[in-house]
Amino acid sequence: MRFQTERPASWQTCQSCGNEVVETDPRARCQVCHGLLEVRHRPPAITAAELIERFTERRGGAPGATASGVWRFREIVLPSAETVVSYPEGNTPLLHRVALDRWTGMEHLLIKHEGQNPTGSFKDRGMTVGVTQALRIGAKAVACASTGNTSASLAAYAAQAGLPALVLVPADAVAMGKLAQTLAYGARTLLVRGDFDQCLRMVDEAAEELGVYLLNSINPFRIEGQKTIVFELFQQLSWEAPDWIILPAGNLGNTAAFGKAIREAHQWGLITRRPRLAAVQAAGAAPFARSFEEGFARRYAVKAETVATAIKIGDPASYERAVTAIRETNGIVRSVSDPELLEAKAAIDAAGVGCEPASAASLAGLRQMVRDGTVRPGEKIVAILTGHILKDPGLLLRYHQEMDPLPPGANRPIQIEPTMADLERVLKKGER
Ligand code: F0G
Repeated sequence: MRFQTERPASWQTCQSCGNEVVETDPRARCQVCHGLLEVRHRPPAITAAELIERFTERRGGAPGATASGVWRFREIVLPSAETVVSYPEGNTPLLHRVALDRWTGMEHLLIKHEGQNPTGSFKDRGMTVGVTQALRIGAKAVACASTGNTSASLAAYAAQAGLPALVLVPADAVAMGKLAQTLAYGARTLLVRGDFDQCLRMVDEAAEELGVYLLNSINPFRIEGQKTIVFELFQQLSWEAPDWIILPAGNLGNTAAFGKAIREAHQWGLITRRPRLAAVQAAGAAPFARSFEEGFARRYAVKAETVATAIKIGDPASYERAVTAIRETNGIVRSVSDPELLEAKAAIDAAGVGCEPASAASLAGLRQMVRDGTVRPGEKIVAILTGHILKDPGLLLRYHQEMDPLPPGANRPIQIEPTMADLERVLKKGER
């Protein structure tokens, strides 16, 4: 079907066959060809200048949804939403640290820390919109597969909305911090003896039959929320786009969201120049990077292996729309090894910023791009850190206490007796 008469404020369209369905259709995939759906909006009825004025007024405003870094942009996120489920989320800072300029070889690197969202990752931006939509369509329960962050976020927002939540996570590849949060917020949690890709296939297949609303990033409303990472960083830069935005990439929902945000911000006159996107994968889970190297001639699926559990994904669901995002922004895709990733993480942590392992892919990738001349040190770059340092305390402790040989950034603690003599002995020796 295609809407022939005047279009509603928002609708959903299949990215593969163009089939259009109403905004409130609850199904996660196109019923004609099983493709992924995208939310489309009628262009805002007011000018870009008027929009910017509204966004500025709402910034740091009264408590509640207006203060949310997602709903501040509601005209270009979900204009028809009236009652929303908001923590509030977003409003994450743009940071600058000289130590990280030095480490990456940049002159003035800006870092947007999405780990400062309520449950510790950027997923909250998608989840506030996804769970809002779940209530609008009368969903009885919500579900997702996850490597950790999505499950914690879904569990929290479902709890706030009073909806039962079902979560499928890989039994031995979900970080301790995330499993703990998911249980604490009350989601029904299934530890699947398999990997993330299998978990996702299972919920994707089962959602309709079980009558639950699927809230993985294949859900187009999640993408609408995640666009606001880009809108917010444009606003923080007074609507002057940077030269590049760099982000970690796994299931590719965020890469797709960033591409859509850039396209719409440009179409609707909020920015005049478009930034390039650089998506960075872990080398052991890099089907998208491999495909990019071959001009996206074919799609790959791999058996994923990396310490960065968040992006341990071998068959990314948003592949097609991420290809569009990279093509439209003249973007690139890179991969970084686990040691490179852990070194970047140690540098980010040691700068007092801190992030989870997957997040460090962005800075590891940037350093690679500076070294091979893809990026000049004077360019304006925003690197996205996607998750919080406390996601994976187990990995942190292994890195600093147990790894042999000791990695370059390791900070090994020393046990002492409860005596001044022992304290002095250790401090005098400068023992490490
Ligand atoms: N960084 C973090 C911290 C993540 O949790 C994820 C994805 C990504 C990056 C990759 O984003 O999938 O949109 O390309 N985590 C998902 C989860 C898969 O279940 O929490 P993507």
